[in-house]
Amino acid sequence: MLRAIRYVAWAMVAGVAVLSLLLVASPDMRERLLGGSGSYAVADVGGPFSLVDQDGERVTEADFAGRPTVIFFGFTHCPDVCPTTLFEMTSWLERLGDDAQALNVAFVTVDPERDTPEVLSRYLSAFDERILGLTGQPEDVAAALEAYRVYARKVETDDGGYTMDHTASVYLMDSEGNFFGTIAYGEDDDVALQKLRRLVEQG
Ligand code: NI
Repeated sequence: MLRAIRYVAWAMVAGVAVLSLLLVASPDMRERLLGGSGSYAVADVGGPFSLVDQDGERVTEADFAGRPTVIFFGFTHCPDVCPTTLFEMTSWLERLGDDAQALNVAFVTVDPERDTPEVLSRYLSAFDERILGLTGQPEDVAAALEAYRVYARKVETDDGGYTMDHTASVYLMDSEGNFFGTIAYGEDDDVALQKLRRLVEQG
C-alpha cells in the first residue's frame, strides 16, 4: 500500500515536471516536445497580408497566388535558428533544381523595428537570391504574424538590447494559399526535401 502511494506520488511529480517544462519551453522547443504544429486549427494558418520586400516593393497574398509558398518567420539579428534555416533553405533550393522555380520562397521579419528593407537586402545577400525578404509597418507585420499563427516575443537582453523569441517552423502553403504542412527546425534534410517535392507536385 505504502509502495503504491509512493509510485503515485512519483508519477505526479514526473507529470508536474513535464507540464512545467512545456510551460517554460519556448514555442520552438514546445513544438519539438509535442511533435506537432501546436494546437491551432491548421486550416486557419495563412491569409491576407500587405508587406514590403527588400527592394521596397509592396507584396500581398495576391503576389503568391497560383504557386506554392515556402514561408519562414524570423529576424536578421537571430544568432542561430534563422541563419541555420536560411542556409538550409538555400541548399534545399539548390537540390530542388528547376523545381524550385515553381515556388514562392519568403522570409518574413518578426522584428520590423530593426529589419528595414535595406537591412533585409544586405542580410539575404548571403543566401539564395530567390528568398524574398518581407517587412513593413509594425502593425502590418503583426497582422501577417497573426494570420500565420506565428508566435514572436521581444526578450530584453543583459546588454540593454533585445532578441526575439519566435516560431521556428517553416510553413508550406499550397498554390491557393491553404496550409500544406511544416518543416520543423532541424528536420532531416531528405525529409525536408521530400516535403518540398510533394509541395511542388501537389501544391
Ligand atoms: Ni530566429
